[in-house]
Amino acid sequence: MKLIFIHGSGAVGAIWYFQKQHFVDADTPDLPGHPEGRLCTSIEEYVDWLHGYIQERGYKDVVLAGHSMGGGIVLMHALKYPRDLKGIIPVSSGARLRVLPSILDFLRNKADDTQGWMDEMIIPLHSTVDEKLQKILLPKLRDVGPAALLNDFLCCDKFDIMDRVGEIKLPALAIVGDRDNMTPPKYTQYLASHLPDCRMAVIEGASHLVVMEKPDQVNSAIEGFLKQIAT
Ligand code: COA
Repeated sequence: MKLIFIHGSGAVGAIWYFQKQHFVDADTPDLPGHPEGRLCTSIEEYVDWLHGYIQERGYKDVVLAGHSMGGGIVLMHALKYPRDLKGIIPVSSGARLRVLPSILDFLRNKADDTQGWMDEMIIPLHSTVDEKLQKILLPKLRDVGPAALLNDFLCCDKFDIMDRVGEIKLPALAIVGDRDNMTPPKYTQYLASHLPDCRMAVIEGASHLVVMEKPDQVNSAIEGFLKQIAT
């Protein structure tokens, strides 16, 4: 099995720092435009890029985990290219990912003000993350920048596969923090009740950034899932 972790909107593969330490053979790619290359303009376009990435490397029996927008990419990948995959792990995500119009407006206003965007949005948002990881991650997020985050939120905003997730036959583990107010537990509950083979792990005391806030609990849930689907 090959474990691949896909980051979310405006982020980078390094958000999976603690997962990469635990699952040392896992791949944590940066999506195109984060910051190298050209951004994709829909979840489906990211999926096509990821399909090519998997094919080029000859990865087999892939277990695809994705955070937030990355979870949307994982779900869409399972619909479009199920043969690439052995299982899926959407984290802090959902089958529909509408974004508050006020967040989109904020990002439009900050498109040319990277420092203001860092000070008002990105630094406060990551205050719950381990300080060592903040030092690694924040400069990378700055390099990706507000325009990429806006691009990705627009991809999320038009993403809606609520009436199709029942077609996903792959084994799934859906993870969410109980304090997630960006993609509330209700979204994960929807996945757990509409995918034919989906378990749900609710991590207590964690927000949308659960993979960085509660890595031990997240890694142990993933470990258990990998054992289940290996048999
Ligand atoms: N899974 C299950 N239910 C979902 C869902 C999902 N992925 N997405 C939306 N719904 C539900 C909503 O909870 C709502 O249910 P209700 O009628 O019982 O209250 C219903 O479907 C309609 O939701 P929506 O179309 O999103 O419209 P809205 O007017 O309720 O809310 C937002 C729009 C943007 C305010 C809302 O989606 C939101 O608060 N999003 C989270 C904040 C955000 O911007 N997150 C960033 C995501 S990357």
